[in-house]
Amino acid sequence: MIRVTFLPNNENIEIANGGSLWETMLKAGIRPNSICSGKGICGRCKVLLKEGITEPTVRETELLSPEEIKKGIRLACQTRLYNNCTVEIFPENRIGFQGIFPLNKVDNAKDFQSSFWLDTNIEKIFLTVDKPSLSDQRSDWGRVKEALVRTKGKNLNYLQISLPLLKKLPALLREADFRVTVVICNGEITALEKGDTADRVFGMAFDLGTTTVAGYLIDLKTGEEVSALAKANSQISYGDNIVSRIDFAQNKENGLAILQKEIINTINELIDKTLQNTGISRDDIYEITIVANTCIHHLFLGVILIYLASAPFLAAFRMGFNLKAKEIPALYLSPETNIYMLPTISAFIGSDILAGILFTGMKNSEEVALLIDLGTNGEIILSKNGELWACSTAAGPAFEGIGISCGMRAIEGAIDGVRLNKNIINWHAIDNGNPKGICGSGIIDLVSDMLRIGLIDKSGKLITKKECPFGIGEQIKNRLDIRSGEYIFLLVKEN
Ligand code: FES
Repeated sequence: MIRVTFLPNNENIEIANGGSLWETMLKAGIRPNSICSGKGICGRCKVLLKEGITEPTVRETELLSPEEIKKGIRLACQTRLYNNCTVEIFPENRIGFQGIFPLNKVDNAKDFQSSFWLDTNIEKIFLTVDKPSLSDQRSDWGRVKEALVRTKGKNLNYLQISLPLLKKLPALLREADFRVTVVICNGEITALEKGDTADRVFGMAFDLGTTTVAGYLIDLKTGEEVSALAKANSQISYGDNIVSRIDFAQNKENGLAILQKEIINTINELIDKTLQNTGISRDDIYEITIVANTCIHHLFLGVILIYLASAPFLAAFRMGFNLKAKEIPALYLSPETNIYMLPTISAFIGSDILAGILFTGMKNSEEVALLIDLGTNGEIILSKNGELWACSTAAGPAFEGIGISCGMRAIEGAIDGVRLNKNIINWHAIDNGNPKGICGSGIIDLVSDMLRIGLIDKSGKLITKKECPFGIGEQIKNRLDIRSGEYIFLLVKEN
């Protein structure tokens, strides 16, 4: 056996001699950065070997520069370990949490939002139940039902209660001195709680993206967004685009189960962090709703993907439906928590875009309207007179990975916003970190400003210093250069 230590967190793990560094990182809970899911093609899974440096493999000599190899940088997916070693993980390979802009802070959000009213299917009713006596020998369940009818003023005989709850009922009623709160969801009693808890009712909404998973905590009493948090989808180590995930799920042993476990882990981590930040109890979350592209939607449910990937490209199902948290393996919520999966539209148009259509109300607009969702998978919806047309394509790798030398995901250090005028360059990096690369929103800002001030012509060509339009200041001109025969614009200079 050999010992592997991962820095900066000093995680230690023992593995068999000759074990793969990639597998060892996964075992230690560290997700390697990857586009090619460990096939030795993308060169993204770089780590720094500080001790126990291995001989570079042929693929490493092709994908790494001589300087990198000399420093001890290796590719996790190509490295086998034969000695105790210390491996430094670059910060961009650590998947952390990201704050996301709460809806109420988005300028003009209301201009794009159709009107909604709060219509939750979770109802909590506080009951004072009659105490039993020799002259009142109704069953415990019978007296709870009577209290419900009395409190609500209508017949609720259709209500169902599960056997596990019935088993708890006698003790719970007596411990609570017959003062209990009943939780009803979709015509079924899903929880019984001691005392009056009717004011505490929360739900979470999740947007499961190929790259990023966002989780929102909503107060179901008021409809207010209490917290918004995002985290990279842990499946990213198995490929950063839909096609490589489908490939992994289909062709690797237990691939589907591994990817299902990863997306559930990401959701669990978001729930834990949200509860920690807000002080709200896990038991106060009664419902979650989930939107996702069709591939991630199927992976969350553990549904086979094979027919999504080949003609005629079919989803296993498209309807929306409810299920219980206990039906999803290792999802850390109360077992009876309701999960609502919004319907998907087709194999490559998911429920995430459906949520966008509902949010904007574009279907009811008489104007021609376009909704563009530039995620790792990009979708465009065109609406005219109530008719909708949709299409999708892989978009994220174009903005954040493949073909862009400084491209990166929207994580700490990614430049996510740029403002350029004829004399001034301003940029912003996520978490105000040192800039390490540029993500999709930064690229869009940069390209649009370069086009506006004339640094890019209408054909998309980057101009040279000599071709600079009149009025462009020296500071900007000096950022235009030619390196290795390619035109470049230097957005950030090394200090
Ligand atoms: S080269 Fe290692 S993950 Fe792509």
